[in-house]
Amino acid sequence: MRHDHIISAKQLSRGDIETVLDRAADIAADPGAFADRHSDTLLGLLFFEPSTRTKMSFTTAMKRLGGDIVDMGSVESSSVKKGESLADTVRVVEGYTDALVLRHPMEGSAKMASEFVDVPLVNAGDGAGQHPTQTLLDLYTIRENAGFDDLTIGIMGDLKYGRTVHSLAHALTTVDASQHFISPESLQLPRSVRYDLHEAGAGVREHTELDEILPELDVLYVTRIQAERFPDESEYREVAGQYQIDAATLEAAKDDLTVMHPLPRVDEIAHDVDETTHAQYFQQAHNGVPVRMALLDLMLGGGQ
Ligand code: NCD
Repeated sequence: MRHDHIISAKQLSRGDIETVLDRAADIAADPGAFADRHSDTLLGLLFFEPSTRTKMSFTTAMKRLGGDIVDMGSVESSSVKKGESLADTVRVVEGYTDALVLRHPMEGSAKMASEFVDVPLVNAGDGAGQHPTQTLLDLYTIRENAGFDDLTIGIMGDLKYGRTVHSLAHALTTVDASQHFISPESLQLPRSVRYDLHEAGAGVREHTELDEILPELDVLYVTRIQAERFPDESEYREVAGQYQIDAATLEAAKDDLTVMHPLPRVDEIAHDVDETTHAQYFQQAHNGVPVRMALLDLMLGGGQ
């Protein structure tokens, strides 16, 4: 995987996924063994949109590998404010760093930016497009909790604008998961994602009610309604507050159902779910560190 840009989950084969997840498991088992692995490496962080987990876990991952980060900081304090183009920004910052992580509100921005640089570039979310490193940590969490064999997963919430969903749905076709998509009609999967899933041989089974499918699920992946991507606020208000779960909802589920969420949550998962054995979303967020360490290690040629 050396020097590959990571732009979309579509580029990850089952073999690539297993390689990253196995390396992440090795790291989680013995983090000290990887502590000085990339002590000369500087990772450039370019976040044009808010982030807590992705940015902080990439930072933690790079530091835990012995390296360091160089952070553009907020858009407000950067030359973007002066009208600098994304292409120019990445061409400059690649001269300071060994790899780049980019989050940007425009779909397709990571692909475009990657064409201007020679160092590896990782897409940390491009608008409503893709978020492949979230997918890797999601898959790690799924593999740990439910395994990939005979996996039945429900993905619920904002399937239209949720980039974590678009990436995850595609990656799940590599493990032949049975996927169920639960959302209001107005937030169903976009046509392009549907087409890709169809091309990959996956059936798209859609539901407007969770209870139609909940008892069959091994994993329920809940997502936030992406308020910031709605062109019209009244459209958002129509769907906000729908598709919430609480501990009572989960009484109809399998005892070993795993509940996941990329976070941040707003009100999709009531706090009483946190105390149940189903809740894995905080562990899922923690898994971002070993998984991003593994990805950086492999991208930067570790152990090869
Ligand atoms: C997600 C994102 O940014 O797409 N957050 C994350 O990276 N964990 C999900 C979201 O914002 O709802």
